[in-house]
Order: sequence, then C-alpha cells, then structure tokens
Amino acid sequence: MRIDIVTIFPDYFAPLQLSLIGKAIADGRLDVRVHDLRDWTHDRHRTVDDTPYGGGAGMVMKPEPWGEALDALLGGYVEQQPGADPPEGPAKRPVLIVPTPSGYLFNQSMAVEFAAEPTLAFACGRYEGIDRRVVEWAADHFDVREVSLGDYVLNGGEVAVLAMVEAIGRLIPGVIGNPESLVQESHSDAADGLLEYPVYTKPATWRGLAVPEVLLSGHHGRVAQWRGQRSVEITRDRRPDLLQ
Ligand code: ADE
Repeated sequence: MRIDIVTIFPDYFAPLQLSLIGKAIADGRLDVRVHDLRDWTHDRHRTVDDTPYGGGAGMVMKPEPWGEALDALLGGYVEQQPGADPPEGPAKRPVLIVPTPSGYLFNQSMAVEFAAEPTLAFACGRYEGIDRRVVEWAADHFDVREVSLGDYVLNGGEVAVLAMVEAIGRLIPGVIGNPESLVQESHSDAADGLLEYPVYTKPATWRGLAVPEVLLSGHHGRVAQWRGQRSVEITRDRRPDLLQ
C-alpha cells in the first residue's frame, strides 16, 4: 500500500520508521511518503495560513498550497501505472483522509476498509483548519473522508494520522507476524464487539498477586469461558454502549 501524508511538520512522522510499521516500510509492504506542504508555497516566508474571512480567532490554512499538493498527489498516482490499460467501468477515486475533530468517528471497521485500498492520502490540517473549498474541490477527484479520532481536540492532524496509519497498517497482510493476534483483540469482529479480556504471563505469583487459577488449569473450554465472561464484564463496566 502506498501512503502519502501532506503536513507542515514532516518530522512528526519519524516514529513510523520504528517497530512493525517501520519493518513493513523496510520490507516494501508499505510505501510511506511524507510531503512538506510548504514545498507548494511560492513566497519567501513559505506562508500556508491567513486570517479567517468573517473574523474570529486563529488562522486558516490557505487553499493554494493545498491545491497544488493535491494536484501533485493525483499526478503521482497516474505516473505509478505508466502504460496501464484504462480501468474498466467508472474509475475508483483514490481515498483522501482529512483528520478533523468534526469528522466521522474513526473505528476498527474504517481501519479494515482503508486497509483494503491500494493508496491512501492524508491531509494534516493545523490552526483553525483548512479553507473549506479545498475539501469541496478535492471531492471531485478523491473519495474524501473527514475523520475524527475522538471527542477531543488535538493541535493538528499529525497525531491522528500517526494513530490511523498504525491502525490501518497493522491490518495489511504480513505486517503482523502472527495474524492470529488480530483475531480476538478488542473491536475485532471475532471478539463480537467486546473489549479484550485481561492477559497474564509468568511468574504465577508476582508481589503477592496470583494469576487466576483457571488459566493454569490447561482446560481450554474453561479458559475460553472465563475469558468470555471477563470480556462481557469489562465491556459492561467501561463501554456499555458496545453491548447494544
Ligand atoms: N485534529 C484535531 N483534533 C482532531 C481529532 N480529534 N481527530 C482528528 N483530527 C484532529
């Protein structure tokens, strides 16, 4: 999968070189390209923001650099398949994810959906956001998805994109060594929408705290039953909305 990220803080994405996502990049399963929005400015100060029409606090990201950045991404997608036959039927638009606190809530099923795409582009807004016309224009060329990480406000889209790239990237075949570990985890289909049960490892007693007896029993049926019960209890306590 190819991932393009446009941001005014490319350094935010250095952690993608670490751990499993870093290995997926090194192995060529993920092709992550981080672009500095300021490369599409033309003034001496590389300006990306201006005051809001209608007044109010803060600054708004100017449309022109974003327009040129998105043009360049679209051009890059075409170049990626030189000489390819035109696709049959209506061509599918590339996905452009715009992180914003006013977006649709990001969840595991969105991560699964995005993990099936050949390309993903992310547009990281800062300040009070991006001039609305950018998203309106982009909707004619991309499948634009405005997505929020949760009901809180970050300083910009970068941290949200890091989280989404990890959630999506780990679902790409081969990125996680043991695909079994994706199956029972919280929010997965196989977990029936329940939160994950608690896990333990050796030693059997640590600082006077013993591992639940049933987990030492070797009785798979009883272990599975205990884990299911704990999942339901934890979900009822922490996320009763998931039980509906
Ligand atoms: N940008 C600022 N806050 C955000 C949030 N909660 N989710 C996604 N992008 C954001």
